[in-house]
Amino acid sequence: MKLVQFASITKKMALAAVGLFLLVFLPVHMGINLCILREDGGEWYRNACHFMGTNYIVKIFEMVLMATILLHIGVAIVLTIENWMARPVRYKVVSKSKTHFMSRYMIWTGGIIGCFLILHFINFYFVKLDIVEGKYTAEIEEVDSFFQQKAKKMQSGELGEKEQAVLVAQYQALSQLPEGKLDKSGKSLVNLSKEEVKKYCGEDFEAEPDFYTMCKEFFKNKYYSLIYLLCFVALAFHLMHAINSLAQTFGLNHSKYNKVIENFAIGFAIIVPLGFALIPIAILFLGF
Ligand code: HEM
Repeated sequence: MKLVQFASITKKMALAAVGLFLLVFLPVHMGINLCILREDGGEWYRNACHFMGTNYIVKIFEMVLMATILLHIGVAIVLTIENWMARPVRYKVVSKSKTHFMSRYMIWTGGIIGCFLILHFINFYFVKLDIVEGKYTAEIEEVDSFFQQKAKKMQSGELGEKEQAVLVAQYQALSQLPEGKLDKSGKSLVNLSKEEVKKYCGEDFEAEPDFYTMCKEFFKNKYYSLIYLLCFVALAFHLMHAINSLAQTFGLNHSKYNKVIENFAIGFAIIVPLGFALIPIAILFLGF
């Protein structure tokens, strides 16, 4: 019996520990994404995405994050099934405890967030992993140096006839760049399809996802925006209970701290989802 209790507490601790890690990720992710709303043509947001996509520490963090999400989902499902099995007959008396009432819905709000994450990864993250096609961006400086290298090879006779023709076509294409393919600062090519990356930057140029253009286009779609907004409501409820529960698991439920933790949970559960929600709201309704 003691062993079962110990196993259950260990799982709760694991759930809380990974939950804490996810709680740190959320405000950071929200802060970065709010840069979409800066009226700078996407400069800040693209720079932030470039940093997130190229920095090795962030890449390690991202792997830990993915493992954490999977662990969190796995442990949450096991704990819920164990709870259900331990109580095959539903209570006839409805609990009046607010915490107990909310905790019963954690698996459902969590399930909504899980479904949201699958959709969200298909929309954005899988573009970064090159599983889904998106829109791409390339710094003019990088395109230029890539082009110069090839031009040197052409001069020294290292390129075949076909490759030379491709290079000339790239030069012509770049000199007749259509509108909307250059960012506000004139430093980057933006909103490129995969075909256009090949056309303007060269066959083997590695362009980065243009998440700024993708987010702006994405939230102009009212159905996607609505789905995201509903998920942020589920996120708010999930966070509210998660923070209280986490504090309890770590033994912080002392009359001295309870009010502070409760208020922090309410503040966090309102501010973070609201911060995320500002993005679709501003793009869809305010024309950002
Ligand atoms: C309007 C709100 C949001 C926007 C615009 C947004 C945008 C993005 C974008 C563009 C990416 C890929 C960028 C990259 O990997 O560097 C991404 C990745 C990700 N998003 Fe979001 N996101 C939003 C809300 C959320 C929410 C509410 C969650 C969690 C519940 C979430 C979880 C993630 C995760 C786990 C990743 C993959 C890890 C990462 O790349 O950082 N996102 N998001």
